Amino acid sequence: MLGRVTGGTVVALVALAGAARAQQAAGALPPGVTAQMVKEGETLFKGAGLCSVCHGQDGKGIPNLGANLADGEWVQSKGSYDDIVKQITIGVTADKSKTGVVMPPKGGTNITDAQIKAIAAYVWSLSHPAKK
Ligand code: HEC
Repeated sequence: MLGRVTGGTVVALVALAGAARAQQAAGALPPGVTAQMVKEGETLFKGAGLCSVCHGQDGKGIPNLGANLADGEWVQSKGSYDDIVKQITIGVTADKSKTGVVMPPKGGTNITDAQIKAIAAYVWSLSHPAKK
């Protein structure tokens, strides 16, 4: 998949993602999700949630470790907000993982359900282009 993506496409996608975040701040988030949750989720993703250890600081994945969460392609689910909440809660077992690498439930941390929802809000925001 990644092999077919050109540098130019990546730049365009990054620009889109930035636009998406700006748009969502204006109210295009999933029901129950607030801009504050996205912000808190980013801090947790890069900090206490340990997500960035396997998925990278920007969520774009690390080869043979965590999947890219910013490309809008989902290997474990359809990538809805609820799917993402569930995925973080249960992790990914070796038999389900495309790479055979396990994701421990909650990234192996003891983040709370509220924190999981915030992190999921941030992860969702990574891949959702602006909609009108
Ligand atoms: C120990 C490494 C590791 C940590 C820590 C980790 N993950 Fe993962 N994550 C993975 C692996 C491995 C997969 C499965 C990739 C595959 O199937 O090839 C995955 C998959 C996912 C998926 C599904 C991706 C898809 O395309 O369907 C989501 C969402 C996700 N992780 C979010 C998170 C979040 C949020 C955190 C922090 C709470 C986190 N992960 C912490 C390794 C990790």
